Amino acid sequence: KNIVILISGRGSNMEAVVRAAEAEQWPARIAAVISNRADAKGLDFAASRGIPTAVVANKEYPTREAFDAALQTVIDGFAPDLVVLAGFMRILTPAFVEHYANRMLNIHPSLLPLFPGLHTHEAAIAAGHAQHGATVHFVTAELDHGPIVNQASVPILPGDTPDTLSARLLVEEHKLYPRAIRWFIEDKLTVEHGRVITPDHP
Ligand code: GRF
Repeated sequence: KNIVILISGRGSNMEAVVRAAEAEQWPARIAAVISNRADAKGLDFAASRGIPTAVVANKEYPTREAFDAALQTVIDGFAPDLVVLAGFMRILTPAFVEHYANRMLNIHPSLLPLFPGLHTHEAAIAAGHAQHGATVHFVTAELDHGPIVNQASVPILPGDTPDTLSARLLVEEHKLYPRAIRWFIEDKLTVEHGRVITPDHP
């Protein structure tokens, strides 16, 4: 199976997926890593692993629709079975999302449905919660609202800042996302009535 990963920056989740795919010898290959920013750090790691990379710079397109159409053409050139959003910081048009329905995953740094959108670590601390977490979900047109695949949680400790909390959570994200993607690759995920059936939650 072919996996295409989209990033915008650091790409540590992408790196975790690449490492897991290699270490666990998934019946899949990372066909490409694509960024909307030429300066995304993660592109260097992908290239160092011999993974094809591409940049589709959103700045160069007049509209969201034009950008998404160009991005879709580049992605589809790699014949993906699965598109993985890993810190991809663009809101996607409904047509794009529909094109990859049931074959596009995202990781979001909150325990969805809590805290969709940006600044989730700040929000979780400000809310006074004892727990924070991350969620892998299928991407649907409504931002951060698709069917949930799996979640991981971490405690929020006294004195936590968004940085300390996000660092604690990132360690868990790096296990959570490869696990979800491996299930997809192994045909172990089914979406029924908007809910995902997984090996953990049959
Ligand atoms: C992660 O916190 C992820 O949950 C969110 O964006 C961040 C991306 O980090 N969607 P990285 O680029 O994978 O290091």
